[in-house]
Amino acid sequence: MTHAEKPVDDLTPEEAAEELAALSAEIARHDKLYHGKDAPEISDADYDALRQRNAAIEAHFPELVREDSPSLKVGAEPAGAFTPVRHSRPMLSLDNVFSDADVTDFVQSVRRFLSLKPNDELVFTAEPKIDGLSMSLRYVDGELVTAATRGDGTTGENVTANIRTISEIPNRIKDAPDVLEVRGEVYMAREDFMALNERMAESGRVFANPRNAAAGSLRQIDSNVTKTRPLRFFAYAWGETSEPLGETQFEAVARLGKWGFPVNPLMERCRSLDEMVAHYRAIEAGRADLPYDIDGVVYKVDDLALQERLGFRSRSPRWATAHKFPAEKAMTELDAIDIQVGRTGALTPVARLKPVTVGGVVVTNATLHNEDYIKGIGIRSDGHDIRVGDTVIVQRAGDVIPQILDILPEKRPKAAQPYVFPDICPACGSHAVREEGEAVRRCTGGLVCPAQAVERIRHFVSRNALDIEGLGEKQIEFFYNHSDANFSIRTPADIFTLEERQKSSLAKLENVDGFGAVSVKKLYAAIDARREVEHSRFLFALGIRHIGETNAKRLARHFLSFEALRIAASEAKMPQGKGDPGSAGWQEIVGVNGIGAVVAEALVEFFAEAQNIRAVDDLLGQMKPRDEEAPQAVSSPVAGKTVVFTGSLEKMSRDEAKAMAERLGAKVAGSVSKKTDLVVAGPGAGSKLKQASELGIEVIDEDQWFERVGR
Ligand code: IVH
Repeated sequence: MTHAEKPVDDLTPEEAAEELAALSAEIARHDKLYHGKDAPEISDADYDALRQRNAAIEAHFPELVREDSPSLKVGAEPAGAFTPVRHSRPMLSLDNVFSDADVTDFVQSVRRFLSLKPNDELVFTAEPKIDGLSMSLRYVDGELVTAATRGDGTTGENVTANIRTISEIPNRIKDAPDVLEVRGEVYMAREDFMALNERMAESGRVFANPRNAAAGSLRQIDSNVTKTRPLRFFAYAWGETSEPLGETQFEAVARLGKWGFPVNPLMERCRSLDEMVAHYRAIEAGRADLPYDIDGVVYKVDDLALQERLGFRSRSPRWATAHKFPAEKAMTELDAIDIQVGRTGALTPVARLKPVTVGGVVVTNATLHNEDYIKGIGIRSDGHDIRVGDTVIVQRAGDVIPQILDILPEKRPKAAQPYVFPDICPACGSHAVREEGEAVRRCTGGLVCPAQAVERIRHFVSRNALDIEGLGEKQIEFFYNHSDANFSIRTPADIFTLEERQKSSLAKLENVDGFGAVSVKKLYAAIDARREVEHSRFLFALGIRHIGETNAKRLARHFLSFEALRIAASEAKMPQGKGDPGSAGWQEIVGVNGIGAVVAEALVEFFAEAQNIRAVDDLLGQMKPRDEEAPQAVSSPVAGKTVVFTGSLEKMSRDEAKAMAERLGAKVAGSVSKKTDLVVAGPGAGSKLKQASELGIEVIDEDQWFERVGR
């Protein structure tokens, strides 16, 4: 099942997880078709849309990012780019605990397992749980031979070439055992992550958090790319070793440190439960000052002989557990609510806050999700609306965008007013509408809205739209941001005037880096070739909500000329309440096979926006949608007739009957009216049959239908 039509804000974690799984499989399939077989099934734009949807859900639910996420596979990685490595000892995971009471239970269970007496001492180590990726480094005769990711715990991927680029990991170690497998965490420091994202922002792809950045960097096919990524490492465990590393966890890790591996300075030995919890609190308090992300504290039985006795459960050792940090919260005041307009026109409310430290990070902005969230409907449990001036509770979990969890009603200033969500786009002034059943309000000024412009132009020139080669995202951004009027492309019409404007320009496009005379000539030719395109392509290219390729074709086939469609849409008035059928234009649009009220409404809204009309007019001044050809008149006894099927059909399904009638040139309606020419009634037909006889409409049964159409 897919929730793809749902705004990300509206997804439940279950739905999000389900969709991420589906997207991961779907994108992997398209990657394979594209790279493996060179036979793509979908357009680049549709492929990009899948990846963007995946990224949007991940940004919203970072805890659900899958190990096989497409966002971690940077670039197009051929399947099996990294060879599998079977771990000599399984790489296990850790059990989690969340409260002091859970820690007590953990210690008790270890003591019970070992049959310790109340006075027997049991020492644990406690150290930060690094938020990165676990790695197994195999050294033979002191030489790094293999570096493998955890994978499924039994088999990982060979990333040796990439690991060799990490300066903190020694390629050779002296005085080492013949075989030594060092295990630990590859991570990226927070500051390095932010600098990397700043660099990456230019390409439009950024990582959601340092962990994803580390994973993405490690999965590069080209280790020269990995080399430019500031990865780091902490050693905290080991796999196969040809000789013991020590008698205790603490000594063994210290030894890894002597061989040159970075080990965490915050590891301590704790001799009691109180000491364990105290160290947990100390690490938690210092968390924000650490240069890297951690998500808890790991306790391990210090004595390696006891570790041996305790052994493992199926997936985790009995001798260790992870005490996770809770999500961090803080209280502050809501100074303002701003509206941001996304690349697809979604209006997203953002809370501007009095700066507050949440888990050591100063937070000034938080997401408010959507209109309903502010009204107190849905996700929040307290039912209060959110108003500017309110005292709010902000939560930051991991590296997710902070969110407002709740408000404190008793602290609400008397003068605080309910927030009125704008119905005008703050970026362009067009109407912003919210469709029934949707949580998101969207700007309708697609063609003119600066927040959406680059995305819209990209869609306009994409393969299944106008298909203009030579205008990729980079070029579009270049033209969009250019301040020289002879270079800039801000609307689709500007594409067609570019060559003319360039003629009168002193500065020439062919002298711009990355263009050149040949490619400029090609670009102009590609643009010129599209001065006349099919009506359906033109309509699809306008990027009207809900008008994808199929609906564009349906509309074009019905209206034939773009002008006819536009007249109907401009005249159309939606039904106002029960009994009102809407205007003739409206009826004609919703009468088009496959077009419902939602699509019709989007179309009408588009043509109700003066700025869109201007943009379309400008475009029509430069180019022309070609009229669709009228379908060959079908000669059949039911061609041109309006048919209603009712009752149960026994020889064909309702869908099949409809398809057959349409193939024969008939129009299939759902209800009987004066316009109905023929009713095909099966057993059990009720009110429609009655209506038909009242209106004197011809009624036949299924067999007579087959006779009539000659089947
Ligand atoms: S010990 C047999 N120590 O947490 C257990 N793991 O949730 C070996 N991790 O897969 C793991 N910091 O990737 C250990 N100080 C630390 C850790 C740590 C992070 C990761 C590791 C592991 C995961 C389990």
